[in-house]
Amino acid sequence: MPLPAVAYASEPAVDAASGDDAFEPQLGRHGKDVMWLPTPDALVARMLSMAGLGPQDKLVDLGSGDGKIVIAAARDFQAQALGVEFDPKMVEVSRRNAQDAGVSERARFVQGDIFEAEFPQATVVAMYLLPELNLRLRPKLMAMAPGTRIVTHQFDMGRWQPDEASLMANRAGYLWIVPANAGGQWQLNYPLEGETGQARLDIAQIFQKIQGSAELGALKTTLRQPRLSGERIAFAFTDARGELREFNGVIQGERMRGTVTGPQGSASFTAKRIGAAPPIGGSGPPSQQELNAAAAALGGE
Ligand SMILES: C[S@@+](CC[C@H](N)C(=O)[O-])C[C@H]1O[C@@H](n2cnc3c(N)ncnc32)[C@H](O)[C@@H]1O
Repeated sequence: MPLPAVAYASEPAVDAASGDDAFEPQLGRHGKDVMWLPTPDALVARMLSMAGLGPQDKLVDLGSGDGKIVIAAARDFQAQALGVEFDPKMVEVSRRNAQDAGVSERARFVQGDIFEAEFPQATVVAMYLLPELNLRLRPKLMAMAPGTRIVTHQFDMGRWQPDEASLMANRAGYLWIVPANAGGQWQLNYPLEGETGQARLDIAQIFQKIQGSAELGALKTTLRQPRLSGERIAFAFTDARGELREFNGVIQGERMRGTVTGPQGSASFTAKRIGAAPPIGGSGPPSQQELNAAAAALGGE
């Protein structure tokens, strides 16, 4: 998806004097790792709705600027929201804006560095940073609880393909869903007319993309349309009787459970991982090549 150009060359900007004593930041205000530019309202709304944000969620905006994403999350989606912002003046502005919007209780701000902040409780992470910063944060984001949603403005996450990409009024917004670890070997059991159907699954995973095979006695067959979204997994295969069986389930640690549908109807299935889960492909630090590509993509805008 082509990205609209946004100037990111950061020159410290001089703050305009306002009529009263309240500090008013200027667009392009110098920031620690990236300058301040606000995400347009329409894209804020789109990012938060792509994330499926709701009252049960805890959102964190990494580099929260004037607080608009955090405030929209609290005001329009009733979420608990936190902004992490390095610039103390911007923290001041965002707290004032939250108060003006009447959401100070649900919209909080802390002064800090996004590379030192801990946010394990977050169920949604928002970012409008730079390609290289996204990549540097990627291992930490991928290690969050499966199902955590990450939304960004303008910049993607390199080899980790988004689950959804949108253009809203010509601005790009992306969504990722942190995948569970589905990799390795699984012993699968499912009911089969009074007996137990058994298969050995072998699943390889890179980011949220999975592929694999099922071994049923003398038969080995590929998994048909394997999909992973957070904890949810789906796949199918044609069994040794020549019958299509479709599996929809959830992964919780070393266990998988859900519903299998075949010609005779639906029933429950379970699976247990055999041995240790391999690390998810791509979950380590980005390669220098990827970092170089991110820097080059930005330079080319
Ligand atoms: C492009 S603005 C995005 C603001 C807001 N998230 C939005 O989308 O409207 C990036 C913000 O990150 C802040 N920032 C830059 N480096 C940071 C760091 N290392 N830790 C915390 N905040 C940082 C900047 O001060 C700026 O306010």
